Amino acid sequence: MLEYFDARQASLKIADLEATALAKEYGTPLYLYDASIFEIKYRKLREALPPQADIFFAVKSNPSLAIVSLFRSLGAGVDLASLGELQTALKAGVLPQKIVFTGPSKTDAEIEAAISTGIFAINAESERELERIDRIAHAYHKKFPVGLRLNVGFAPKERTTVIGGTAPQKFGIDVARATEAIRLAKGLRNIELIGIHIFNASQVLEAEALLNNAENIFGTAFELSQKTNTELRYIDMGGGLGIPYTDEERELDVGTFGRGLAKILTRYLEKGLPKNLRVLVEPGRYLTAEAGVYLTRVIDLKESRGVNYLLVDGGVHHLLRPTWFPTGHPVRVANKLNQPTRQTYSIGGPLCTALDYLAKNIQLPPVEVGDLLAIFDVGAYGFTESMPYFLSHTTPAEVMVLQGQDYLIRPRLTPEEYLKSQVVPEPLKFFS
Ligand code: LLP
Repeated sequence: MLEYFDARQASLKIADLEATALAKEYGTPLYLYDASIFEIKYRKLREALPPQADIFFAVKSNPSLAIVSLFRSLGAGVDLASLGELQTALKAGVLPQKIVFTGPSKTDAEIEAAISTGIFAINAESERELERIDRIAHAYHKKFPVGLRLNVGFAPKERTTVIGGTAPQKFGIDVARATEAIRLAKGLRNIELIGIHIFNASQVLEAEALLNNAENIFGTAFELSQKTNTELRYIDMGGGLGIPYTDEERELDVGTFGRGLAKILTRYLEKGLPKNLRVLVEPGRYLTAEAGVYLTRVIDLKESRGVNYLLVDGGVHHLLRPTWFPTGHPVRVANKLNQPTRQTYSIGGPLCTALDYLAKNIQLPPVEVGDLLAIFDVGAYGFTESMPYFLSHTTPAEVMVLQGQDYLIRPRLTPEEYLKSQVVPEPLKFFS
């Protein structure tokens, strides 16, 4: 909620650079990232967490190579969910021992790549997956470390349903079968069960709710390790740390969360969890959301049955979240930042679907064609969680401002480029 931007200025600045100038240089629509905000968020969390906790950045929240490289340079490990994300992490220089692989439907090729790379661990999502990891690991003559992802019967309340709490799930193994699954894992010769993974909510803003959840996670992991006589080397708590998208929401108090987590950890170490236990935290949104701004230019204005529409050059092919989550994203006019809001607008893009709105009934200063709209808090699940090919537009560019300098970190993909790789069967070819 513009926590990290100065809204009193006449026009938006990303670090010290004018957003309007960046839009002119790189064109619109455009994703802009302020590297110093990624860094502030990372340091806030790092300082708050106990030393036994490792931050494994959830790459899925923003997989741009430059951003993964930035978190690597700050000391983070990564949580990833695909071969593409593994390739990204390795290219960004993340050490294999700082990589954990979590997510349903892992293919044999992905498992093989993770094993041959020698990552820290794979979090297995099913009994079948344990068996597949075991089979693939056979060729490597060394027990491969795995964690078991559990689908538990507790969850903190999410602001808006993201992960889905305690319902039937494609994620993890139901806790009712956990003991059996651990026994199965222990009977397999090529894997070693060393961790428990539980991730049951995203976008949680209350430290107390996260701590209750942590208590339950530790309790579950401890009980299972006792019951099955398993020495755990890590407990992976997933992500879930929220950010305020609206005025009504308050920033998560990571200090309280970190202090509470340290106490829970100390208590369970006294109860008998191994002294060298690592606690993995896999934040995505908390680290990336607030550093990103999506810029889009107003192309047309119209009124329809009492609603004032701003028609812009961007849309949900670049930023899907506003259709999905009712809280939406904060919007400002970048070139009229501190002007009083006097009109109600809805913002639509060029796509042929009623889903294509970036905001509905929001207050802005009077807008004209050519104005530049800034949509905030899009650094997590923005570019990456959208549908770029719908209507064959150019994809947005991504630009990072780092140490006072702007860098094009992902150029636009133009129709010429994605047409180049497509093939028309011989009988359908058009000869002019
Ligand atoms: N670890 C795992 C295994 C995950 O699946 C995720 C996110 C995270 C960590 C990071 O969670 P976070 O810290 O960001 O809460 N569609 C939603 C986001 C889905 C999150 C999926 N998993 C959205 O647009 O808000």
